[in-house]
Amino acid sequence: MNRILILAFAAPLFAADPSEFFETKVRPVLANRCFACHALTPQSGLALNTRAAMIKGGNRGAAIVPGKPEASLLLTAIRHADAKLAMPYQQPKLSDSEIADLSTWIQSGAPWPETVASSAAPAAAPYVITPEQRAFWAFVPLAKPAASASIDSLINARLKAKGITPNPPAAKRDLLRRA
Ligand code: HEC
Repeated sequence: MNRILILAFAAPLFAADPSEFFETKVRPVLANRCFACHALTPQSGLALNTRAAMIKGGNRGAAIVPGKPEASLLLTAIRHADAKLAMPYQQPKLSDSEIADLSTWIQSGAPWPETVASSAAPAAAPYVITPEQRAFWAFVPLAKPAASASIDSLINARLKAKGITPNPPAAKRDLLRRA
C-alpha cells in the first residue's frame, strides 16, 4: 500500500516537460539525422524543420499525424517498415530509443515549442559579419601610417585647423642663447 502511494506521488516528478522532451530527445535527432536533406532543400518536397511542414508533408502527403504515430509516414520511414522508404536515406538506421522517442513525441501531439522552432534549424540564417564587426581593431590588418605623417606635419595640421599660425623657426643666435 505504502509503495503504491509513494509511486503515485513520485510520478509527476518524472513526467517530462514537453518542451524539454522536444529539446533533448526530438530536435537533436531531427537536426543531426534529417535536416541535411529535409530543411533548406527538402527532398521529396518534405521539410522537417517545422511542425507545420511535417503536417503538410511532402510528395506522399502528411509526414506526421499528431497523436497518431501509427498513421505517421515519418515513423514508417524511420522504422524501415517499408523497404521503398527507409530513412535516413542510405544512412544507418536511428537507434531503437530514438525511434521510440519520436513515436512518443508524435503520440503526445507533436508539441513544437515556438521559441525553439526558429533556433532549431542550423540551416537558418547564415551567420553574417557586419561591417562594424569587421572594422573591430583586432581584425584590421596592420598598416604603416603614410610616410609623410611626421610629428611636425601632424602638429601643423592641428594648428591649422584651429587657425593658429606657428612662429617661424628660431634664428641661429636665439638657438645658441637658449642652449
Ligand atoms: C541524405 C539525405 C536524407 C536524409 C539524411 C533523410 N532523408 Fe528523408 N528523404 C530523402 C530522399 C531522397 C527522399 C525521397 C525518397 C524517395 O522518394 O524514394 C526522402 C523522403 C522522405 C520521406 C517521404 C516524403 C514524401 O512525402 O515523399 C520521409 C517521411 C522522410 N524522408 C523522412 C526522413 C526522416 C524522418 C529523416 C531523419 C531521420 C530523413 N528523412 C533523413 C533524403 C534524406
